[in-house]
Amino acid sequence: MLSLVGNDPDNLSQIASMLSNKDDMHLVWPEARYSFDTDQWRERPTAHPDNRSFLVAQETPHGTNIVGHAALMGTEVLQTFAVSYLYLDTELRGKGLGRQLMGILEAQARGIQDIKALRLRGRTYNPRAIHVYETAGFSKASQDGILISMCKELT
Ligand SMILES: CC(C)(COP(=O)(O)OP(=O)(O)OC[C@H]1O[C@@H](n2cnc3c(N)ncnc32)[C@H](O)[C@@H]1OP(=O)(O)O)[C@@H](O)C(=O)NCCC(=O)NCCS
Repeated sequence: MLSLVGNDPDNLSQIASMLSNKDDMHLVWPEARYSFDTDQWRERPTAHPDNRSFLVAQETPHGTNIVGHAALMGTEVLQTFAVSYLYLDTELRGKGLGRQLMGILEAQARGIQDIKALRLRGRTYNPRAIHVYETAGFSKASQDGILISMCKELT
């Protein structure tokens, strides 16, 4: 069972330890500098007041583990937030948890006052993520080269 834990914007240490792998870093944020650049992350994922950063917690019989990260970011479009910086620990992937994460993230988003839509961006070289987004009800809005923009109305 996964849950979201509000992430202190000033505390990037857990995200940094998750993204110690260069390939993962590239999947999560292709423009991110490697190794983890705290100043760059401080400028972007948590800086805007509308942005919400979450750690993903997993309950196990032995306690609660932090196993990932996700964010809901304000956009230039009114009442529209972007799902971003999605990450699950390598050994947990491919077991349906990404799908579960999208569900709890959407539930979290629905709690934002007057929110109307979610959007996100994926890349053609990451078909697993695109598939998870489609399964979560996102549709392709446009494509520019490898960059696929997807959206979901929250009716
Ligand atoms: C993206 C991510 C969050 C998805 O989580 P996950 O736990 O692996 O996803 P799930 O197990 O719920 O679902 C994976 C789905 O992708 C499918 N899949 C796997 N590889 C695929 C591929 N190459 N092409 C198409 N579908 C693929 C699986 O069959 C499964 O679909 P199904 O449930 O319909 O059978 C996770 O893999 C991750 O953290 N990846 C690294 C970071 C990343 O890519 N972030 C997204 C940036 S846009």
